[in-house]
Amino acid sequence: MGKLSGKTAIITGAAQGMGANHARRFVAEGANVVLTDLQEETGVALAQELGESARFVRQDVSSESDWDAVVKTAEEAFGGIDILVNNAGMYFICPVDEAEPDKVRKLLEVNVFGSWLGISKVVPSMKQRGGGAIVNLASLAGARGIPWHAIYGASKWAVRGLTKTAAYDLGPANIRVNAVLPGAVQDTGMFSGGTPEQMQQIPLQRPATLDEVSDLVVFLASSEATYITGGDHFIDGGRGLW
Ligand SMILES: NC(=O)c1ccc[n+]([C@@H]2O[C@H](COP(=O)([O-])OP(=O)(O)OC[C@H]3O[C@@H](n4cnc5c(N)ncnc54)[C@H](O)[C@@H]3O)[C@@H](O)[C@H]2O)c1
Repeated sequence: MGKLSGKTAIITGAAQGMGANHARRFVAEGANVVLTDLQEETGVALAQELGESARFVRQDVSSESDWDAVVKTAEEAFGGIDILVNNAGMYFICPVDEAEPDKVRKLLEVNVFGSWLGISKVVPSMKQRGGGAIVNLASLAGARGIPWHAIYGASKWAVRGLTKTAAYDLGPANIRVNAVLPGAVQDTGMFSGGTPEQMQQIPLQRPATLDEVSDLVVFLASSEATYITGGDHFIDGGRGLW
């Protein structure tokens, strides 16, 4: 029996990178998955590859009506929602005084507002099921000051704040909320391979693999983590130890 047998999960930003890997791992662990993304073609192809346990819905996480369609699909196809992985995210870096206002607004809308909106939309269904687990993708950039990462970093600091307060508010409903803070993760759209100098700054001297991050997300979503909520879970090879 898989670690997520009988559970239904929504995973956002699942057409590529970490989200696609989480979707594969969740299905392998016995979950039903509604995967969502802006990228329809790759999302549909992944859902087809995963078979009957998967559905794809094209979604912009900052759209309320898109969230309504995602929740409806999960309820109609699989009877409810047990797990939300707020994984979709945008990334750009530049000196703090050179960011373009429209790009700043957009990134905050996707990374912060979109994560909150997802939580608010799945909670009624989770309450009906007697509980649930929410995993929010933050970042090491949401726990340190990193040059040129002011806007992205601000969004991920906000995701950690959202996680902790949501854990307070939703704990009585048996809904756990945790944050995952990766450092560099290979084979993603956001990380194109670090320089040898950058790798030397990581005690383990390499980026995380997709499976290493998915292992952590599966654990936090599973019944092995029933007393863990509100936590910051670093997965950075020790990069944040300074
Ligand atoms: N790659 C890393 O090294 C790294 C490190 C720390 C944290 N993270 C975080 O992990 C998460 C996954 O990142 P990744 O590296 O797999 O990125 P990625 O760029 O490979 O994938 C992100 C996905 O989100 C989707 N997306 C973007 N905007 C969206 C929107 N408005 N609505 C729906 N989908 C949208 C994209 O189409 C893409 O498929 C992100 O939240 C990211 O900030 C990544």
